[in-house]
Amino acid sequence: MKKTILLMCTVLLAVFAYAQQKPRIIILATGGTIAGAGKAADRAGYEAGKIPIDDLVGAIPSVKKVADISGEQISSIGSQDMTIEIWKKLAVRANEIFDKNEADGIVITHGTDTQEETAYFLDLLVSSDKPVVLTGSMRPATAISADGPKNLYDAITIAASPKAKGKGVIVSFNEGIFDGRDVMKMSTTKVNAFFSPNTGPIGQVYDGKVEFYQASMREVNVKTPFSVKVDTKLPRVDIVYMYADAPSDQIDMLVSKKVDGIVIAGVGNGNFNKAYMDAVKRAVAAGVIVCRASRAPSGRVVLEDEINDAELGTIVSDDLTPQKARILLMLGLTKTRDKKQLQQYFFTY
Ligand code: DGL
Repeated sequence: MKKTILLMCTVLLAVFAYAQQKPRIIILATGGTIAGAGKAADRAGYEAGKIPIDDLVGAIPSVKKVADISGEQISSIGSQDMTIEIWKKLAVRANEIFDKNEADGIVITHGTDTQEETAYFLDLLVSSDKPVVLTGSMRPATAISADGPKNLYDAITIAASPKAKGKGVIVSFNEGIFDGRDVMKMSTTKVNAFFSPNTGPIGQVYDGKVEFYQASMREVNVKTPFSVKVDTKLPRVDIVYMYADAPSDQIDMLVSKKVDGIVIAGVGNGNFNKAYMDAVKRAVAAGVIVCRASRAPSGRVVLEDEINDAELGTIVSDDLTPQKARILLMLGLTKTRDKKQLQQYFFTY
């Protein structure tokens, strides 16, 4: 009898301890304004990536009630200096964390300038359905009304929420939750810097409460065929911007450099002028994969519309911005050079 009671008490205690367990969140810090320190509180100037991750979390002590948090410093850079090497490190580490069940969610602190690119790169490569949430800030930690502590608190709250499972890589900013594929930095300096022009936010976080309203039909819950290791060499893909009366020199220069792919940030529906048209023909003849995207911030580039892609030998980015189309083309080219297959990637992910 005594033994049975003891056993029951032990089981109850174990169940209680399990119920009390908080989600385990690992923060991978890369730098950016969120870790920036300025000379004065009333000046916007600052040096990015100065403040270590432990200090950033230390500034929001109440977040310890939300999750068990640990941090790793991956880099300390402004995100204009983000590199493919750091992207690969992040992807490899994120997959390792989930494969070894080291955490229930990951938060990545990141400068805002290239945050949308990192989010999409990881979206295509992280194979777990556990949450990965990127965030940053527009004002350095030393500024009046710094937005970093709130954004970090919100990102941890989202990563700790069961609702965020299976949503792909997310960007959390200024109380908005955005799909990593669709989000874009829309303002150079304002605190509501991020938006998804084609789809809008997928949810909101406010007062510690997370709510999702819609989900992307693209890469979410779809296992992509892509994977990288730290030593994977990604094909070189560059972006060329189209504007009125643009000469074709940049395209010809890239072909002479033997790049693997070129994304054209075309006008409107991925259009370009006659000089570009001739240069694109030369690029395609030289074996370069040319993808038509658009410098317009919303809408899609439609295959076989104003331009005869079949005849020209080009593919289109669908609704990906040029900077995201470059990422998909780089990863796509690790798998194939077949244009039909590459185009299919753009209609799938
Ligand atoms: N240079 C920017 C960057 O790290 C600063 C802007 C920011 O983090 O918001 O992306």
